[in-house]
Amino acid sequence: MLLRGCREHGDLFRFRLGLRECFLFIGPEAHDFYFRAPEDELNAKAVYQFTVPIFGRGVAYDVSPEVMAEQLGFLFPALREAAMQKFALIMYEETSLFADSLGEDGEVDLPVVMNQLTVKIASRCLIGEEVRDQMDAGFAEAYHDLQKGINTLGFFLPNLPTRAHRSRDRARRKVAELFSRIMAKRRLSGARPDDFMQTLMDARYKDGRVLSDDEITGILLTVLFAGQHTSSVLATWTGLELAKTPAYLARIRDELQDVYRVEGAMSLASLNRQVTLEHAVRECERLHPPLIVLIRKVLKPVHYGDYVVPAGALAMVSPAASHRLPNVFADPERFFPDRFTPPASEDKQHHYALIGFGGGKHQCMGKHFAYLQLKAIWTVLLDRFDFYLDTPIPTPNYGSWVTGPKRPCRIRYRRRSQASSLR
Ligand code: HEM
Repeated sequence: MLLRGCREHGDLFRFRLGLRECFLFIGPEAHDFYFRAPEDELNAKAVYQFTVPIFGRGVAYDVSPEVMAEQLGFLFPALREAAMQKFALIMYEETSLFADSLGEDGEVDLPVVMNQLTVKIASRCLIGEEVRDQMDAGFAEAYHDLQKGINTLGFFLPNLPTRAHRSRDRARRKVAELFSRIMAKRRLSGARPDDFMQTLMDARYKDGRVLSDDEITGILLTVLFAGQHTSSVLATWTGLELAKTPAYLARIRDELQDVYRVEGAMSLASLNRQVTLEHAVRECERLHPPLIVLIRKVLKPVHYGDYVVPAGALAMVSPAASHRLPNVFADPERFFPDRFTPPASEDKQHHYALIGFGGGKHQCMGKHFAYLQLKAIWTVLLDRFDFYLDTPIPTPNYGSWVTGPKRPCRIRYRRRSQASSLR
């Protein structure tokens, strides 16, 4: 429908979603305008209120955009190159453990196992090692209940006393207790691991104030929610597309041989050299962006060309629709990672052609982390296994906030006799 709207009306058009009036900005020029609009015109906070019961009071979309930016800004040092080096090793370790558990051959429901794997990686990298150790002692279950709190009803009425919302609130309290216990232990023992939790424990607001345990918990949950499910879904789509594209897969394996014959072990540097794999991931970002629409509330009338978008409406961009514009991406329905290779470099012909990680002030802070993780996971798995998908690639499940393939989504695997030199 969104693509038809664009064909018939151009790069800004209006439609209704229930009682809400919505406007879609579509195409690189319109995206540029949208992402540059000031917060008092196109506002994210007003739309993402449903996250407040999950992330908590006093953080993220419960505070002003300036304070939210300051809170997320504390984490930038924890995403610098030295940290990424360490994350690459954790990603390798966790995926190897998962690969070891698979045996010689079998079948898995890919979204389920990718979810389990990315929860482990995210909890170790994005929170702290202690949380990974608490996985079976209640964290995984609490996290699951928090995730169930993100539903269509919660989007409109986040505080309605439904069963899912009560479980969500119980789970939030449980996670807060768990994180507070870990922080208390660290303060008592003097242990200062180099991770997100410690970075926040050491941070100070501009006015010198330290963060409370509840604020730290909220910021960690913000990052976990922003980064885990999205990564799990894109990892799933990547596996599905590669299982269906043996010719490109063979090139990824050739690259793997070349890289690891020299590098030996996985590292940030080795993953950076895997450009053929990176282009496959980027093509999955294009064809299957986990967030299919980004939304802002219009607080003041917004002028775009000859048009005015009225206050009160919802303004959107849609990665899923924009990535299928034939004037931006040739033959857009085709899975064709070489579109990113020079001289075509279709993603570089326009600023904001590819918007799977958003843009402007709210641009994703975890894009490099996400790419590193997806490449690490599929390097280990493709090195050790052949994968077979006996059905067509499942269609997207648009009923979920983060858009993965419809389930079940089973894929067969068989251990390969000849792995590369990756240790
Ligand atoms: C495949 C994985 C990911 C995808 C597709 C993705 C996508 C996005 C998108 C589209 C936005 C913009 C939302 C908007 O404008 O309304 C966003 C924001 C954000 N992402 Fe990601 N993301 C991913 C992974 C991550 C990871 C791993 C982290 C953490 C390390 C992360 C942290 C964030 C945060 C904190 C924001 C909010 C930024 C703000 O509003 O200022 N994301 N992400």
